[in-house]
Amino acid sequence: MSKKVLLATEKPFVASAVEGIEGVFAKAGYELVKLENYTDTADLLAAVADVDAMIIRSDKATAQVIEAASNLRIIVRAGAGFDNIDLAAATAHDVCAMNTPGQNANAVAELAVGMMLYMARNKFTKGSGTELRGKRIGIHAYGNVGKYVALIAKGFGMSVSAFDPFIPAEAMEADGVTVCATVEELYETCDYVSLHMTANGHTKRSINHKRMGRMKEGATLINTARKEVVCEDGLKMIMAERPGFRYSTDVAPDCHGELLEKYGLRYFFTPKKMGAQTAEANINAGVAAATQIVNFFEKGDRNFQVN
Ligand code: 3PG
Repeated sequence: MSKKVLLATEKPFVASAVEGIEGVFAKAGYELVKLENYTDTADLLAAVADVDAMIIRSDKATAQVIEAASNLRIIVRAGAGFDNIDLAAATAHDVCAMNTPGQNANAVAELAVGMMLYMARNKFTKGSGTELRGKRIGIHAYGNVGKYVALIAKGFGMSVSAFDPFIPAEAMEADGVTVCATVEELYETCDYVSLHMTANGHTKRSINHKRMGRMKEGATLINTARKEVVCEDGLKMIMAERPGFRYSTDVAPDCHGELLEKYGLRYFFTPKKMGAQTAEANINAGVAAATQIVNFFEKGDRNFQVN
C-alpha cells in the first residue's frame, strides 16, 4: 500500500543522495515530501502531520514532533547516533525508531584524522609542527567509526590503542590494535585520543577534568562524537593548566567563545557538524534509510530498530 514519507533535514543531503532516496521510494510507489533547510520547529510539526514515515539526520524527533504525527509508524535516523530521537515517546506511540549504523562511519573517521593533522601542523598557520608517524592514537569506543580511524591511522604509521568494554578484545586485536584494559590506560599512554562513543546517560560529561588530566603532555583530544560527552568545565581547566593540550571538535562547545579567544592555535571547531557531511556518506545513509523504510512496511523488517 502506498505510503507518505517525509525527508526532514535541517542540514540537507547532497542532491545525488536525495535523488537516490527518491529512486527507492519511486520504485516502491511511495510519496516523498521534503522539508530541507528549515529553521522553525513549527514547519516540522506541520510537515509530519500526515506522514507514515520520516527520515531525519540530527533533526530533533521530540515527543511533540512524534505526537503531531498521528500516522507515523517509523522514524529512521540516517546516521549512527539516535540521541536526537525521544525513544520513550516513539515507543509509547508505537513508532519504530531505527538508525543506519556504519553508513557514514568512514566520513567521520576521515574528519577525525584530518583534525589530527591540522592540529599537529598548528592549524596550518605557523612554524614547525609535528608528524603523526610514530605517535600513538587511543580510540575511545571501537565501533564503526573507531575501526576506520584505526585503519587510516595505521596508514600514517601510527600505533593504535583502543578501549571499548563492549567489544571483545580479540576483535580489536585482530585489527592490529593494542587493547587497553582500562580507560585510564588509554588516556595515559596515547599522544592523541579520539572519541567515538554514543551520547547517553553514562557517557555525557564523562570526559572530565580527571580523565583529560591523565593525558600526556602535549596530547590532543579529538571529538567527532558529541559535544555533550566532554565536561566543559573540566576542558576549560585543562586548557588553562596545560599549555600544550589541544582540543579539536566537530561542533562548537558552549564555551566556544572563551576557548577561541584564549587558545586559538590549540583549539579548533567546525561551525556546523560536518563529520558525516560528504556526498558518499549522504548517499549511503540516505539510501539505507529509505530502503529500511520500504522493507519495514513491505516485509515487516525491523533490523536496526533501536527502541
Ligand atoms: C551520526 O550520528 O551519524 C553523525 O553525528 C552524523 O550526523 P548528521 O547526519 O547530522 O551529520
